[in-house]
Amino acid sequence: MSEYNCVKYRCPSNIALVKYWGKKSGGVQLPANPSISWTLTDLHATTTVTRTKLTDTHASSVSLEFFLAGEPKPSFEPKIRQFLERIAPFMPEVKDFHWRIESENNFPHGTGIASSAAGFGALALCFADFQRADLAGIQTWSEEEFLQTASKYARLGSGSACRSVYGQPGIWGETKAWSKATDEFAVPFTAEVHPSLNNWADAVLIVDDGEKSVSSTQGHDLLKDHPYATSRYQQAQINLERLLEIMKKGDLEGFISLVESEALQLHAMMMSSEPYYLLIRPNTVAIIEKIWLKRKETQWPMAFTLDAGANVHLLYDKSYSQSVMNFIETELLPYCKNSLYLCSNIGGSPQKN
Ligand code: DP6
Repeated sequence: MSEYNCVKYRCPSNIALVKYWGKKSGGVQLPANPSISWTLTDLHATTTVTRTKLTDTHASSVSLEFFLAGEPKPSFEPKIRQFLERIAPFMPEVKDFHWRIESENNFPHGTGIASSAAGFGALALCFADFQRADLAGIQTWSEEEFLQTASKYARLGSGSACRSVYGQPGIWGETKAWSKATDEFAVPFTAEVHPSLNNWADAVLIVDDGEKSVSSTQGHDLLKDHPYATSRYQQAQINLERLLEIMKKGDLEGFISLVESEALQLHAMMMSSEPYYLLIRPNTVAIIEKIWLKRKETQWPMAFTLDAGANVHLLYDKSYSQSVMNFIETELLPYCKNSLYLCSNIGGSPQKN
């Protein structure tokens, strides 16, 4: 066991282009269909993990405390405890230590932005890093093995988090379109992306900053008896295959229609779950319609997408930044809660601090 007892990582959030929605039965956190995302470099979590050896080694449960932005947050501990219990079979030393976990996000709290991808990404990187240090001299991990381990651990915390550990687009879930892809962890999409899709950014338009009525985990669960689940999984497979080709070829029209269709399919699955529910709000629809209208008038390369909430992610080619910012400020801000939107570049890897 090394003398290495404190580690800190910063990890970006991500936004899916083809959505993970539904889990395979059997196994833990295995996706029912493949997904791909872009990391949001400028919306990130920074997590410090400090460990103290327990005298009672191999305790039956894990020992932890969690702080968010400097404040103790016992309400988050069950989810983190579950994460630690899930990684313990792969990293037995989890039960030998007390874990002090301090995390902070660089975006304001209560924006409705899913912080679990960044949070679990950063946490998983810290644990994989401890394990790498403990194994030093016994086993050497390549950088690829390290990232795959971190991605697997992140997946066990929150599925979508596993895609956050790569600067390149992250693919998660088996697909014949990318032979390295697996359900266990995400892998980077290393093919050359066409220059027309390689310089985009995301403006997250905050429509609703409240707690969601149905969490993502509950939403995934409702896919089990969903009448359209099988068709959706097939469609996601097809969309992922198409998207990889689109990204290589730089087919902008294809990109826009596929990404927007994916967002609407995600919400259509929510609306047709049993019980049905709705996470988009009137202002979500108003923003989408404004984007469609503006694109028709200007042909700007931009597309909206949604995560499991009311906020709209406006993805756009950065060569059009000035025009898009002006559009947001003059036409979209009235639909944003407290006139708030957050901008992020795309790509960029996690960092060890
Ligand atoms: C809509 O990863 O938050 O953002 O695995 O239960 O933690 P759990 O769910 P989560 O699901 C988010 C799904 C999504 C689409 C996506 O990111 O692919």
